[in-house]
Amino acid sequence: MDQHAPAQPLYETLASRVVALIESGVLRVGMRAPSVRAFAAQQGVSLTTALQAYRLLEDRGVLEARPKSGFYVLGRPHQQRALPAASRPPQRATPVSISNPVFSVLAYAGDPSYAPLGCALPSASLLAAERLDRHLARCARVHGRHYNIYADPHGDAELRDQISERALRLGHAVPPEGVLITNGCTEALNIALSVTTTPGDTVAIESPTYFGLLQVLEARGLRALELPTDPVSGIDVAALDKALGARRIAACLLASSFNNPLGTRTADGRKADITKVLTRHGVPLIEDDIYGDISFGNDRPRPFAAISPKADIILCSSFSKTIAPGYRIGWLAANRRHDHILAAKFALSLSGAALPQKAMADFLKSGGYDAHLRRIRKLFADNIDRMRRTVDRSFPNETRMTDPKGGFVLWLELPDRFDANALYTRALSERICFVPGGLFTASGGYRNCLRLSCSHDWDARIERSVERLGELAGEMLA
Ligand SMILES: Cc1ncc(COP(=O)(O)O)c(C=O)c1O
Repeated sequence: MDQHAPAQPLYETLASRVVALIESGVLRVGMRAPSVRAFAAQQGVSLTTALQAYRLLEDRGVLEARPKSGFYVLGRPHQQRALPAASRPPQRATPVSISNPVFSVLAYAGDPSYAPLGCALPSASLLAAERLDRHLARCARVHGRHYNIYADPHGDAELRDQISERALRLGHAVPPEGVLITNGCTEALNIALSVTTTPGDTVAIESPTYFGLLQVLEARGLRALELPTDPVSGIDVAALDKALGARRIAACLLASSFNNPLGTRTADGRKADITKVLTRHGVPLIEDDIYGDISFGNDRPRPFAAISPKADIILCSSFSKTIAPGYRIGWLAANRRHDHILAAKFALSLSGAALPQKAMADFLKSGGYDAHLRRIRKLFADNIDRMRRTVDRSFPNETRMTDPKGGFVLWLELPDRFDANALYTRALSERICFVPGGLFTASGGYRNCLRLSCSHDWDARIERSVERLGELAGEMLA
């Protein structure tokens, strides 16, 4: 033994023993770990030391503490790949012009002859599609004629009740009258922007950010101010404060949790700080909570609107990532501007399709959603875990990657000289699709980054495709 090596603290040794139990499959993801007391007794250590070991594993994302219930296995530990660096986008508002490259990527991402690492769209087999279809068939049989009308522009009353009830579980008190059903989250975002901005305005966003959001800004003639964003903690609050003090910003548009592509989970305290800063500057927040329900832990993160109920916040979300992207059912919840929002909905689409809303309401009332969520959370957690392990062993050593605790996308950052667009072209020629990093910004960065989607059942083709991307990336870097 190296006499100069510092002795490992006892809690580190204990933590490694828990990790060994997970690695050997004795403890599996989702299982309850031995209580701190039982673990202390087994190992012959004090309660404090046993708790220190568990806390360390909690920090490393291996265990999760659940109030009054104990510690649970959240994931297997990973080889310590570095996380991507916090972004440092240029501090100026940029016009957005992203649609053409996005369309070409989406054409490949939707083609099943390409390995599906491009599209952040769960495969139908992972969603509750069949059960929902049964509700739809029944609705058509029983209510078909009755629902073949222009529906209430607010949306189906029962569906709004269900959404309001679910929001309350997170501490977000929004009455059904405050909920407006939309055609997907995309329409909700469009309505939210239409009531808070006019063309030429600037909107503050995370960086990198979902390209569909950039497309919405582009279509509305808005400029983007990209904020420095850390893959673990989220946007830099001081930078936000400074940006809002330096110029007029009409709205701030952020993901509530597990943003696309970083998978960031911003802590409640930081969310409160962000809304405080926005309130001080009189800037509304539009939050996109579309991935919030896909949390790998048991505690579904709370949206900004639940944490700061009095702040000027418009929450946008949909069932596209969890149940049925094809039903196009999203919603918007706001605590002001109701008339203006309703007028915008009228102008955009008059009302949503009635029958799918009724079927969705019946599905939610049947209680099937929570069981379904438990299943897909575990599935996506496993997919991310497998994807990370495959990247670990196949990509060049300098590759950094995110460690998301929800959602189903992974963001890789390679050295600056790496060209993800060149990799993209090579990969397409081998029938593999992913999304190059340059699509996640309006200001021309992230050319060395890529997003991999883990939203399909893991299989040999997906694994081989990730390995092949790693090989190609290695060759290109060499
Ligand atoms: C962050 C984010 N918001 C919104 C959307 C679009 O949602 P919808 O299909 O409900 O319009 C997506 C789809 O990928 C997304 O990733």
